[in-house]
Amino acid sequence: MKSFKHLLVAFFLFVFTIARADEGMWLPLFLQQLNEKQMKGMGMKISAKDIYNINSGSLKDAIVSFGGFCTGEVISSKGLVLTNHHCGFDAIQNHSTLERNYIRDGFWARNLSEEIPNQGLFVTFIVRIEDVTKQALNGVTKTMSESERQSAIDKNIAGLRKDNKRETYQDNFVRPFFEGNQYFLFVTETYRDIRLVGAPPSAIGNFGKDTDNWMWPRHTGDFSMFRIYAGKDNKPAPYSTDNVPYIPKRSLSISLDGVSEGDFTMVFGFPGRTTQYLPSPAVDQIMTVNDPAKIAIRDKALAVIDGFMRKDEQIKIQYAAKYASISNAWKKWQGEVLGLNSTNAVGKKKAYEADFQKRVNTNPQWKTEYGNLLGDMESHYSALKPYGYARDYYTEIVSKIELFTIAAQLNALITAYEKDGENGFKQRLPVTKNALEGLYTEYSPVVDQQLFEALMEMYVKDQDKKYVSPMLIEWLNGDMNGFKKLAAKVYDATPLDDSKATMKMLEKPAAELVAELKNQQVIRLYQDLLKTYQAEVQSKLGEINGNINKLQRTYMQAQMEVMKEKKFYPDANSTLRVTYGKVKGYNPRDAVKFDFYTYLDGVMDKYKPGDYEFDVPEKLRSLFISKDYGQYGSKGKMPVCFIAMNHTTGGNSGSPALDAYGNLIGLNFDRVWEGTMSDINYDPSICRNIMVDIRYVLFIVDKYAGAGHLVKEMKLVHPKKK
Ligand code: ARG
Ligand code: GLU
Repeated sequence: MKSFKHLLVAFFLFVFTIARADEGMWLPLFLQQLNEKQMKGMGMKISAKDIYNINSGSLKDAIVSFGGFCTGEVISSKGLVLTNHHCGFDAIQNHSTLERNYIRDGFWARNLSEEIPNQGLFVTFIVRIEDVTKQALNGVTKTMSESERQSAIDKNIAGLRKDNKRETYQDNFVRPFFEGNQYFLFVTETYRDIRLVGAPPSAIGNFGKDTDNWMWPRHTGDFSMFRIYAGKDNKPAPYSTDNVPYIPKRSLSISLDGVSEGDFTMVFGFPGRTTQYLPSPAVDQIMTVNDPAKIAIRDKALAVIDGFMRKDEQIKIQYAAKYASISNAWKKWQGEVLGLNSTNAVGKKKAYEADFQKRVNTNPQWKTEYGNLLGDMESHYSALKPYGYARDYYTEIVSKIELFTIAAQLNALITAYEKDGENGFKQRLPVTKNALEGLYTEYSPVVDQQLFEALMEMYVKDQDKKYVSPMLIEWLNGDMNGFKKLAAKVYDATPLDDSKATMKMLEKPAAELVAELKNQQVIRLYQDLLKTYQAEVQSKLGEINGNINKLQRTYMQAQMEVMKEKKFYPDANSTLRVTYGKVKGYNPRDAVKFDFYTYLDGVMDKYKPGDYEFDVPEKLRSLFISKDYGQYGSKGKMPVCFIAMNHTTGGNSGSPALDAYGNLIGLNFDRVWEGTMSDINYDPSICRNIMVDIRYVLFIVDKYAGAGHLVKEMKLVHPKKK
């Protein structure tokens, strides 16, 4: 009986380790030490050195941070870069006009001379990563205040960055890891002549739009292609017609064999931000306070905008990008709450914390140092609660009302004048003009007035009066009693909701303009909202967050010391990471099971002629009918997307999905809705990343767009037919 019990325990431990095998965003330089064995156990056929090696070419030399917000990978010996359609979208939009609508129709350069430069776009390679914890924390003591600590570290980092050997065309930066317990230095090379090579029409690249976003089953060909250009010496160089295609140290080979359920995959890229080490009260707060508050505000905002977009073609175009971006996080947060609930994340955290506390209590030194940690965190998070809610209310609401964004721009102009006189004004003016021009192209005063009416009501009614602007209350108590009246009066009285009037106003002499702006009712209101927020929320929030940061840092350190058998990975912070896991379907709720692959058949099932989200281009329909899939089809079908257990987040968009040999098999672009809580608590049962199959990408490039010359640049392989 006893040995049976032992067996049972061993079995559960085994299952537990296996299940957790997919969690984590690992630093490439520690793969050999921490992960290689497990990766090989899961089917990987290459070594950690093939992934990251600073002495000879490795896979990492094919991975770039794309513009600082997405990931891209080099897929040809001529510097061709693959990323998502939604990552390249800005570039695609910038080159589009009514006559040449690349968003609607797609774009393909037929040769190098047709590739289009993109001002401001860059890609960054990581040359090497170094642990500089000792140097960064040199002279830091336990008794220092948080600000003393930070300035000591900043000084150390400045020295480190200066002393670190690098070439003139390289740069470096240092980032904190594990809540500031460790520091790493990154040496980088940034190329700034990045040209657009091709993009499919939105009906393919963003098929399913907001309805399908964050959802599985998915049928989106979310990709676009760029090319890195370098100086004649192959080094970074500013844009020039003399520049030539960059010859990479490494480019990815592409597998045409697809994946089967259970196959090993890894994703290599730049995940942006996660918070995996929050204690249970913090997770509970996100689920019950912050996410619901933000969701409720966006519910209202989206309903208002949607109402107009449905009736008005012009507004539909103007607000499409804004709507997509508001809806992206709104939908993610809903999935997050759902997933945290369904996997009992708080309960699991509590059990983990109980175990932690029990272990701490057995060791006198731990007990003195860490004994009260969980309790302290609980009381600080509880102090944070009202301020966190007020912060969400302020930032969500003020940022959704465009008239306030306009007021904020003009307020910055006022501040510049009051601080630095004519000179300050002159410096700021072009920035303001530029920002306003951008704002007004995607602005409708009619929509905005209704947003103001709906959201100001929430601002006043749904939070503690302490945090509400006194000026607004006064107005509401006066002749603007009622939110409809308030909105009408504010918008009637201001010239700022009209772009022409505002731009004309900006031509006035500084002193006159500033006096006039300061008299503007909306600007006065904006200033009062801001002042109230700063005085009643922001300062207190800063103080509490400072305390929390310190506690979280200690908690991180304590966990690493106390939970010895656990392998820890640092939260995402937009630095290069590897995550790995198996290709697998999932079971989102009772009686529902999702398969791991989608096919072009599914695109056709969703097809709605003329629909804004689900239209399918004619040519794609005829390729489907003739089953003309060339070398890209599989058993008479065209694979489109697949899912796996890789632990990814925002910023991993455009990241390569690699097979056991390091060949490119897909392009990461999303996660499944039920599993978006992996940012807070990864759970192997429902957390899946979504990738577009590389064969679908190549099929679109070759068969749909007729850009087969690009495929000829690539190295196609058949690892499964060896
Ligand atoms: N959900 C993905 C991400 O977080 C894709 C967003 C772009 N696609 C869209 N339909 N809005 O970025
Ligand atoms: N679409 C996300 C991005 O733009 C990736 C999806 C995710 O958050 O996992 O980075």
